[in-house]
Amino acid sequence: MNRQTTNAQLRPSVKTGLPGPRARAIIAMDESCTSPSYIKEYPLVADRGQGCFIDDVDGNRFLDMMAGIAVSATGYAHPHVTGAVKEAIDKVWHICGTDFYTDSFSRLCSKLAGYVPGMGKKRVFLTNSGTEAIEGAMKLARFHTRRKGFMSFYGGFHGRTMGALSLTASKVRQRENFGPFIPGVVHAEYPDVLRRPAGMTPDECGIEAIKKIERQLFSRVTSPDELAAIFVEPVQGEGGYVVPPKTFLKGLRELCDRHGILLVFDEVQSGVGRTGEMYAADYFDVAPDILLSAKGLGSGLPIGAIIARESIMTWTRGSHGSTFGGNNVSCAAAIATLEVVEKILPGIRANGELLSNGLRKLAEKHPCIVDVRGPGFMIGMELAHPVTRESIPGVMGELEQMAFREGLLLLGCGASTIRFAPPLVCGPHEISIALEILDRCLEKVAPKQ
Ligand SMILES: Cc1ncc(COP(=O)(O)O)c(C=O)c1O
Repeated sequence: MNRQTTNAQLRPSVKTGLPGPRARAIIAMDESCTSPSYIKEYPLVADRGQGCFIDDVDGNRFLDMMAGIAVSATGYAHPHVTGAVKEAIDKVWHICGTDFYTDSFSRLCSKLAGYVPGMGKKRVFLTNSGTEAIEGAMKLARFHTRRKGFMSFYGGFHGRTMGALSLTASKVRQRENFGPFIPGVVHAEYPDVLRRPAGMTPDECGIEAIKKIERQLFSRVTSPDELAAIFVEPVQGEGGYVVPPKTFLKGLRELCDRHGILLVFDEVQSGVGRTGEMYAADYFDVAPDILLSAKGLGSGLPIGAIIARESIMTWTRGSHGSTFGGNNVSCAAAIATLEVVEKILPGIRANGELLSNGLRKLAEKHPCIVDVRGPGFMIGMELAHPVTRESIPGVMGELEQMAFREGLLLLGCGASTIRFAPPLVCGPHEISIALEILDRCLEKVAPKQ
């Protein structure tokens, strides 16, 4: 990939059978020695990237509509982010932010504390990953409230370590054989607007989900006084890019206020500009007590953050720490990422709309697309039976495979939803290519009704 090439000149191009000869050799080596728990969606062996495009080791070029699971926020090799990383590498890689100071660590925390004004004055703890942010927030919530219980939602994904996995209720495969989980975790239903009962409005569907928590959980399963925190994804990610009505998140805020429970927004996937706002809390206009960020924050370098109201981050010196959290190079990447994202937020909203509208047009032609939803570049395209709305086994996987062979990188989520989470620099050029390939692939894989 010639770095002088502008993104507008790039197009997907698949020249070999897939995987090509070099990719085949690497995959064979990988399969001989790596953990069998890895998923490996399709045989992409990435070599280099620019903007929204990835070249594999055989010189095939792909358009990326999933950004390494919503991570490469500024696209591949963004000059501002790459420049900041190179500068940090030449200075100091690591000093341990738990014990010492760097300029970039403090500047990043100060920047993150400035977002989501409704949260008031905030303090920030830096982590290596989304899961570590979840674990830290569970500890912080217990420390601050002196309560032990947690609530999260069916369909929610919060990570795979024991605390985070106790909150996760996305796929049985992720939990089976790993229990027992931490005690005191209850799960509630997340509103499913698409499948709401006839005659119910989306807003009513959000309110009903809150009423159900009070009617079922708080009267039969746990006293709200035992809950330290409610963990919720403002838009469910792995669960299927499910967008709740605003009434749901506002109702949760009210419920938490009434019972002294902390409201934690897991914005690991929805944060850093993905919804067209820096954080989805702003999109929904609901302020949590604790907001968790990761994935896109470092444009691909590992970094996460626990952002909490100052009045809640009351844990004491030495009660929590992290060796690598807030690594100097990751901090430099995160500051540069946020600088880029701040500038392109209006473009994310406009281009997200362009992509959503294009997908809705495709839905008119391919009735198995039963829903296109989500703000900014957090768009779910659900594939299901057009009348029963039941998922059609295999179609999502087939579409992923076929698109890959045509040079388009897609990624599913939930039972049968394709998530469109491209690098946030994705523009009209990339969107028109993606829609064109998608249309061709749907022609072949979508069942005719
Ligand atoms: C909403 C959400 N929370 C937490 C996590 C876990 O983050 P990580 O994989 O960085 O540990 C993920 C990962 O997909 C996620 O989507």
